[in-house]
Amino acid sequence: MNKSGLISSIDIGSNKIVALIAEIDEDILKIIGIGQHSSSGVNKGQIINIDKTTNEIRESIKNATLMAGIKFPPVFVGIGGGHIETISSKGMVAVSRIGTQIGRDDVNRVVEQAKAIAIPSDREISHIIPQEFIVNSETKTNDPVGMTGIRLEAEIKIVTTSSYSVQNIERCLEKSHIKIADFVVNPIASIYAVVDEQEKDLGVIMLDIGAETTSISVYNEGNLRYVGVVEIGGEHITRDIAYGLSTTIVKASELKKRFGCAYVGMVDNNEIIEVPGVSGRTARKISKQEFVQIIQCRVEEIFDLAYEKIEKEGKDYLDKIGAGIIITGGSGNLPGICDVAEKVFNLRARIGNPRNIAGLSDNINDPSYATAVGLLYYGIINESTRKTDGRKIDIGNNVFKKFFEWLKDI
Ligand SMILES: Nc1ncnc2c1ncn2[C@@H]1O[C@H](COP(=O)(O)OP(=O)(O)OP(=O)(O)O)[C@@H](O)[C@H]1O
Ligand SMILES: [Mg+2]
Repeated sequence: MNKSGLISSIDIGSNKIVALIAEIDEDILKIIGIGQHSSSGVNKGQIINIDKTTNEIRESIKNATLMAGIKFPPVFVGIGGGHIETISSKGMVAVSRIGTQIGRDDVNRVVEQAKAIAIPSDREISHIIPQEFIVNSETKTNDPVGMTGIRLEAEIKIVTTSSYSVQNIERCLEKSHIKIADFVVNPIASIYAVVDEQEKDLGVIMLDIGAETTSISVYNEGNLRYVGVVEIGGEHITRDIAYGLSTTIVKASELKKRFGCAYVGMVDNNEIIEVPGVSGRTARKISKQEFVQIIQCRVEEIFDLAYEKIEKEGKDYLDKIGAGIIITGGSGNLPGICDVAEKVFNLRARIGNPRNIAGLSDNINDPSYATAVGLLYYGIINESTRKTDGRKIDIGNNVFKKFFEWLKDI
């Protein structure tokens, strides 16, 4: 956030590019500019055509700034794609002042030490997420500052990304003359818009089902344990509708949005829908149940892949999910999608619309804006953390509490 209390974000998705400008008003995020453009140079969350994406970013930013009537502030940018990975690491240091309390500098040192693991040259560290600290090999805590000890250990998660993928985003923004405030991986950004503190404590899985990707975030006992991405999303459903009904992708997408439903149990068995004919063929009528069956199979497949990915990363991640599943992303608009998630995961599910926003909030009150709004929250919280204790990132615990405390202060 810059000095005037303005902040901006950009979500470069496979389906659409969204630029937002917001200001902090009282204790709420007020959206004052929205710019959106369809995205044609992004595949599975990653930029594959610099020129097309640069032009589309420029258009989105131009519209957001026209609406807000101000210059575009330095931007918090989302990183998407299957290259996003989470790895675990441990560190250990001797506490610097024997017999006295553990200080913030000791915590920083042990995290730095845990961070110093070999990362391939074509990858970079995007986020450090402290998990647990152990004092004197016995006491486990989330915050060891102020405790007495001689030995401090840290367990951390490191989120890494492909350097090339990040450089391509950088290039597009450079060419658009936009200053970057920070990069944030999409599965982390979306959390900030939709997940509350109680849900994090109870354990929650967030799934952002976009066009070509599904971002996964897993919280257990108040800590972010895992983020990752599977390269499949709503377009997988659209393609199968087009194939199954012998129609075009454009028509299949229209049918999905107009009549789509993810759960056959919600459809009457005598409902009929009309499928427009292509290349001079006449329109035909089909049973809606048949249509929804196509969608349900693909939605189940998306959830199965997400489930398998989480299970592979840590079997116990699926055990402590008291708050269930939160679904964001454009595909969250499919009626019945929560029913299918509940069936696959055997957990309760809800849709995540961006929370606590004002201003032009009606325009973005939709799960497909979770990433763009989450980037704004991330920006505010990250800046406040930097101001208070100089750390770059601490997204492990209670970020929203810190955020609201900070808002009260200003
Ligand atoms: N009403 C709707 N019913 C069903 N699907 C919808 C609806 N609205 C949007 N979608 C689907 O949501 C997807 C787009 O979601 P979103 O805008 O979140 O994607 P994105 O962020 O651009 O892509 P990604 O995150 O995968 O890179 C498309 O597949 C679209 O068909
Ligand atoms: Mg997206």
